Amino acid sequence: MNGFSLVKALMISLLCFFVRAYAAPEIVYLSWIDDPTTTMVIQWQSEESLELRVRRAGSENWQRTEAEGNEYQVYTAKLDQLKAGELYEFQIGDDETLKFKTLPDRLDRPVRFAVGGDLYRGKGELFEKMNHVVSAQDPDFAVLGGDIAYTKKRVIPLGKQGELTRWREFFKIWRRQMVTSEGCLIPMVLVVGNHDVSSLPKMFCDDLIFQLFAFPDQLFTYRSLEAGDYLTLALLDTGHVFPICGRQTEWLKETLEESRALYKCAVYHVGAYPTYYMYKGKEEKRVRQCWTPLFEKYGVQVAFEHHSHAYKRSYKLKGGERDEEGVLYLGDGAWGVTPRSPRHHPYLAESLAKNNVFIVELTPKMMEIKALGIEGDEIDTIAPLLSGFESAPAQQEKSAGKGDCKS
Ligand SMILES: [Fe+2]
Repeated sequence: MNGFSLVKALMISLLCFFVRAYAAPEIVYLSWIDDPTTTMVIQWQSEESLELRVRRAGSENWQRTEAEGNEYQVYTAKLDQLKAGELYEFQIGDDETLKFKTLPDRLDRPVRFAVGGDLYRGKGELFEKMNHVVSAQDPDFAVLGGDIAYTKKRVIPLGKQGELTRWREFFKIWRRQMVTSEGCLIPMVLVVGNHDVSSLPKMFCDDLIFQLFAFPDQLFTYRSLEAGDYLTLALLDTGHVFPICGRQTEWLKETLEESRALYKCAVYHVGAYPTYYMYKGKEEKRVRQCWTPLFEKYGVQVAFEHHSHAYKRSYKLKGGERDEEGVLYLGDGAWGVTPRSPRHHPYLAESLAKNNVFIVELTPKMMEIKALGIEGDEIDTIAPLLSGFESAPAQQEKSAGKGDCKS
């Protein structure tokens, strides 16, 4: 090979290297905005459109799938008509084959999900440690309870480019760490917090969170995730885009009233029963005024709250008083932030200045919840909650002197 050919060959190999690197997006993530048994949202970030191919595991044929790009080089593919409880594979450009699973439409296997809030503040040590704990539990999905990447309402604003960089760091870490032992990417289910969106009365359409994630009808930050006949997960907005009372509360009432799911849970950012923030805070009061009576009336077993950066387990509460037939409040938003010292409140059965996530496992008879700390240790013991199906006979037993929880 002469000198010219050698240089040419080197240049071609170099070009191929860059094309390949370029054609395999570093940022790929999954989320659910619709039926988790039959849909999936695949998103990635790349400088130009790349081909997405999807197939059911075991099938020979890849299906090319449309994705829509936006000005932030985020491509979104909304898959539907998938089969429930199945493993799927997908490829983007020249990237390795990635996998995801749809949820089953019946609880013929345990369904497990993680819940936690207040995740990534830019220093990733706590966040990454907790991610390791969560992915080791092999959850089917993770519910992020707001203040996901702390891009908004900062003392020193990051600016659009700084926000984008922060989100990209978050996505890269998520893709690298949040993979199950079966090799599935863990889908995110989002709830917004005060550090995710701009302040009222600005327009929210430009906020990056709405450009980087799929939302139903774009700005609908409250919605429910309905899985088969077993789970209604009310995902609520504690006044960051939509007011707590009014239209959102009307929707919540209708949703809970109509739900026949075995388990009803709510996830939102600002807590009705905070550990660190003030009980008399504006949002806290509104959540107690408008939502907690609906949780009590329509059988929400557990509400996951965040924002305070501590651990909490409330007593079961009804009208703010201890009541074994009331609602359990768990929180309090310390996935990857430095924990704060909780204040003393009479509604708290346990509170700790500790990082935490909850791992929820649903079976036909009960919902078991583990509170895990940053080392993967169980930091508290939470009595299992019976399914809605089981709770009627359990309540009859209670009147005969037995509790409504198995321990
Ligand atoms: Fe917050």
